[in-house]
Amino acid sequence: MTAVLVTNIGELTTNDPSSGDESELGLLHGAALMVEEGRVVWVGEATSAPAADETLDVGGAAVIPGFVDSHSHLVFAGDRAAEFAARMQGRPYSAGGIRTTVGATRAAADEELSANVARLVDEMTRQGTTTVEIKSGYGLSVLDESRSLAIARQFTDETTFLGAHVVPPEYADDASGYVELVTGAMLEAAAPYARWVDVFCEAGAFDADQARAILLAGMAAGLQPRVHANQLGPGPGVQVACEVGAASADHCTHLSSTDIDSLSSSSVVATLLPAVEFSTRSPYPEARRLLAAGVTVALASDCNPGSSYSSSMPLCIALAVREMRMSPAEALWAATAGGAAALRRDDVGHLGVGASADFTVLAAPSYIHLAYRPGVPLVSSVFAAGRRVG
Ligand code: NIG
Ligand code: FE
Repeated sequence: MTAVLVTNIGELTTNDPSSGDESELGLLHGAALMVEEGRVVWVGEATSAPAADETLDVGGAAVIPGFVDSHSHLVFAGDRAAEFAARMQGRPYSAGGIRTTVGATRAAADEELSANVARLVDEMTRQGTTTVEIKSGYGLSVLDESRSLAIARQFTDETTFLGAHVVPPEYADDASGYVELVTGAMLEAAAPYARWVDVFCEAGAFDADQARAILLAGMAAGLQPRVHANQLGPGPGVQVACEVGAASADHCTHLSSTDIDSLSSSSVVATLLPAVEFSTRSPYPEARRLLAAGVTVALASDCNPGSSYSSSMPLCIALAVREMRMSPAEALWAATAGGAAALRRDDVGHLGVGASADFTVLAAPSYIHLAYRPGVPLVSSVFAAGRRVG
């Protein structure tokens, strides 16, 4: 049992309000943390640290919990750069673009899909992400959804069955037949590889009744619900998420006062994905209204080839601060502890005693630099369960 002391931390974000300055971030200056068997076993002032077998001196840098990216779609082939370029010339984003990626994904070999996921997970890791959720949703057949999830499972336990992403072309005239497939044979094949079930509840994808049926079927098969809600316009997604007790309603770009009331009187996390609004040139979600109502807010990348081909949580933080008026502290919390709440995890997203030793050393004196210095590679090293991974 080797005890490693990470020391000379200029500013440590623990996300443990009982530590340090007693803010939500639980900030400590001149700090150290002790890691044993992949877990944090002690946190405090460096001067009062217990004896260790090994020491890692981070030279006064800021240390933050690893980012918890609770929403991504990494299992796909091809890209949609031309669609992006056309959008930047004024063409609107629509859910239909998903079908382009479905064609490319179905045509790809397993090896190509898993090499793609590996490349993107590596990108994420190098940018400070230590927990990632990965959805299926570009297969949309029994075989392609289950193989997408089997591939995702090689990289994370946080896998999500999104057979209800859009209705695939072969069911264009039979949406209810497709819902039957999703809730029947497809769910059965997907469930062994998935922890979560998700639905894109939106005009052009699935309506409230279809979404409810799919989420309830997933729950009956042992999966936990989360929902793509209120992304492209107002709609019933948030209400459905609250009704079924989803862990999270994701996007939340177009919310009514009723939606905000429902979220604030539930334990559903609102996961905001500002890289989508950036990449689709859309209005940003109203983070301040959600925070004022006491809703738990998470930030995630939504990395996917259509609406947000960015794997960068630092970008999401910078956008949340600049465009959604979150404070740098609120944005960092949302990208770490918020993401953990959206995945119902209490072992990640913080650096309190007992947490997994997932942390990122910044080439900066403070986490504020993540928003203050946008686009600058500030992640100098990344540790997961106490081992260097990036
Ligand atoms: O979260 N909203 C649905 N799914 C993705 C977009 C997928 C795509 O355009 O390929 C999203 O934005
Ligand atoms: Fe998504």
